[in-house]
Amino acid sequence: MVTGKTGIRKDRERAGRLVVVSNRVADPKRDRKAGGLAVAVGETLEATGGGWFGWSGEVTPDAHKLKPVIRLVDGIYIVTIDLTSEELDGYYFGFSNQCLWPLLHYRVDLVHFEQKYYDKYKIVNRRFASALAKFLGPNDIIWIHDLHLIPMAAELRQHRCKQPIGFFLHVPFPPPEVVATLPRHHDLFKDLMAYDLLGFQTQRDARCFRTYAMQELGAKRLEDGSLETADRRVQCDAFPAGIDVDSFAELSTNAEARKQIAFLRESIGKRALVVGVDRLDYSKGLTQRLTAYGEFLRRYPENRNKVVLMQVTPPSRETLESYARIRRELDRLEGAINGEFGEMNWTPVRYLRRAISRSRLAALYRASRVGLVTPLRDGMNLVAKEYVVAQDESDPGVLILSRFAGAAESMGRALIVNPYDVEQVAYALQMAIHMPLEERRERHQALLATIKKEDVHAWSRAFLTRLQEARPGFGGTLPLDRSNEPSRPARKKAPPKAS
Ligand code: UDP
Ligand code: G6P
Repeated sequence: MVTGKTGIRKDRERAGRLVVVSNRVADPKRDRKAGGLAVAVGETLEATGGGWFGWSGEVTPDAHKLKPVIRLVDGIYIVTIDLTSEELDGYYFGFSNQCLWPLLHYRVDLVHFEQKYYDKYKIVNRRFASALAKFLGPNDIIWIHDLHLIPMAAELRQHRCKQPIGFFLHVPFPPPEVVATLPRHHDLFKDLMAYDLLGFQTQRDARCFRTYAMQELGAKRLEDGSLETADRRVQCDAFPAGIDVDSFAELSTNAEARKQIAFLRESIGKRALVVGVDRLDYSKGLTQRLTAYGEFLRRYPENRNKVVLMQVTPPSRETLESYARIRRELDRLEGAINGEFGEMNWTPVRYLRRAISRSRLAALYRASRVGLVTPLRDGMNLVAKEYVVAQDESDPGVLILSRFAGAAESMGRALIVNPYDVEQVAYALQMAIHMPLEERRERHQALLATIKKEDVHAWSRAFLTRLQEARPGFGGTLPLDRSNEPSRPARKKAPPKAS
């Protein structure tokens, strides 16, 4: 670990750096609870270099200690800042996770708005912007991520930041009627106009935002799809997030993966393995999924003792009641299914309420016959993409995918289901488990081709190219591929792998 205040200051005069800002700053190779944002951003920065700014994950009781800490990790400046416990409650648990998260996942019933949450959300964004402004160089390009940081560009503009600033929303953007239920929504979403480029996961999300901006913010849509208000113009489009296909494929075939697969095989015998991998979140459709699995065992009894569902579910935002409730429901359902169908030598559901490393996940996907990805609503869902990439092309597993995951927009060769329709999901399980090899291969090839085309490099390149184009005449240019960069900082050795 290197603290690099001088380094980052000298460095900022360079031709152009990518500066990424997100609430979570995590190294997905080390952080087992990664989440889609950290995975996509981490993989982008690995390719472009630059800096990553955000919350340290720590809470400090002493508001005077809220200074940014800088580290240089693998050639990337990591700049993090603590929150006070009041900020954590208002900004993170309050406004981000009790207002925006449920709202943007279409769960108006779970939104709990309090003015003090919104006030803290604004204060934290202001504080982050004022700390970040000091590190920015004139040629930097700034990429802000996700629902926690919507006001960041407007705040940075107050600090006279003239650089291009882009925003990417990792979660869905619902229709205007849903968004308009949130108190203060105009005040919040008008700040999106301070960006130069807005990126959404799907065409549907981008469309919903344009309609919202025209209906609620009085924006005008121009011929090129951009939006204009009295004082600003912003480009707006879909940029489907992807994964690093080659590195994930390697994870699923290396010696460690082979060892893990052999271990799994020994433990489940000849039974077909069905896998689910999701943060413990009400948006992931977990209760509907377990209910559907129970229905599958009831309706198609020939599968009993021949199938095992392995559900990996790292807990998330645990202090919130909506998350505690889903956890209780899952515990109950797991017990009910195992109690009703289990036998001395067979546990129908194996439920791990903790995170596992990405290398173990890769092996788990590859060892399985079916991947069950059935969120009620999801921005993209990278697990769906990882599942396909991890398969053995000569004998691939089948992906069952919710029509309400962003991934479904381009992954139509999965078995697409309505996650609320328990009977349909049960039937899809039956089809997937008994699908002939030829059909499995054909579907897998089609899915893999799309995932390769829309990988993480294509995602960041498309977004950053558009962001630079949105500001013609801007001085900085980004090294979008730093593999040939002579002055690239020395990379540290890869960290030890988590188990
Ligand atoms: N993940 C992980 N360990 C786990 C569970 C998940 O590393 O135990 C990773 C997973 O491989 C994926 C990400 O977390 O890359 C989850 O991203 P996704 O887009 O599917 O959902 P999100 O959590 O962002 O809603
Ligand atoms: C999703 C969100 C991210 C978030 C992640 C993990 O991927 O889009 O912004 O970081 O979930 O959630 P957490 O609340 O633990 O950061």
